[in-house]
Amino acid sequence: MKDKIEQILNEVKAFKADSKEALEQFRIQYLSKKGTITELFTEFKQVAPEMRKEMGMKLNELKNTIQDIIDEQQKNFETKSEGKTDLDLSLPVDAMNGSRHPLSIVRNEINDIFKRLGFVVAEGPEVEDDFHVFSALNFPPDHPARDMQDTFFVTKSPDVVLRTHTSSVQVRVMEQGKLPIRIIAPGRVFRNEAISARAHCIFHQIEGLYIDKNVSFADLKQTLYHFVQEYFGEGTKVRFRPSYFPFTETSAEMDISCNICGGEGCNICKHTGWVEILGCGICDPNILKACNIDPEEYTGFAFGMGIERIAMLKYQINDLRMFFENDLRFLKQFENA
Ligand code: DAH
Repeated sequence: MKDKIEQILNEVKAFKADSKEALEQFRIQYLSKKGTITELFTEFKQVAPEMRKEMGMKLNELKNTIQDIIDEQQKNFETKSEGKTDLDLSLPVDAMNGSRHPLSIVRNEINDIFKRLGFVVAEGPEVEDDFHVFSALNFPPDHPARDMQDTFFVTKSPDVVLRTHTSSVQVRVMEQGKLPIRIIAPGRVFRNEAISARAHCIFHQIEGLYIDKNVSFADLKQTLYHFVQEYFGEGTKVRFRPSYFPFTETSAEMDISCNICGGEGCNICKHTGWVEILGCGICDPNILKACNIDPEEYTGFAFGMGIERIAMLKYQINDLRMFFENDLRFLKQFENA
């Protein structure tokens, strides 16, 4: 009986139905009431008790295999007979329809520039705890960013939030304890903002972090200067204005000469000739300490920019909501970007 089962197994495995009728015939031959499997089960009653277990398993396996073959091949005929098209859907496509979203294009371009400088891409969760978004980054307990007005809370106590910035990934990477660090962290962030042409409750940022021995503000300036020349073109000017972030000391905001009017003054730069593109600074020793890095030995710089903001400047888009509406008339303009 064992040989018989093996032989039938080989037979059915080689079976390929060329029509729905042939497949039905196959089913009747093996699985119907008078079919082969029923016959085998009748024979099975004669099998010696010590062989029963093995034979029973083999028989069931055969039955299941046949059913699988039928189910699998059935699909071929369903598509052809019930589909509403004569197209051969199994043919390979010549060209992909569609294109990348402008935010993905910009993110990839920015990533590539920093990757060429030796930065690697790091990721962290969008749903984060208070420690990674705020505490480890030196936000005091009463900092306004921790307020419900600005932050989406998932649960309160323990504080679980939707991350309000990708700076949380800095903490995730520092915690791993591998030095030096040279990462960029692109990702989605969330803030409880009213949606308008200039603000959205969901947007994207790219965070950068460089920690090593002897990293200085000069390194930060040169790195960002290089990025700006690559992205906005040779000759784009940069300027740094003193600012404040809890996790950097010294902190700055960086402006570039308006890429629309070349610094002459226009609507986009509000006739100042400059547009702000990012925040940056030297990592505060406290945040290194919070992640067990010795600030006497290591220093670092960090920066963070909004991808929407960069994309709006690059493509002269004046309404942020466009990125989220997925209007094909908008998206199609980036097909060849
Ligand atoms: N996390 C800041 C924000 O969301 C941006 C930022 C500023 C990131 C300065 C940095 C930095 O790493 O050094 O507004």
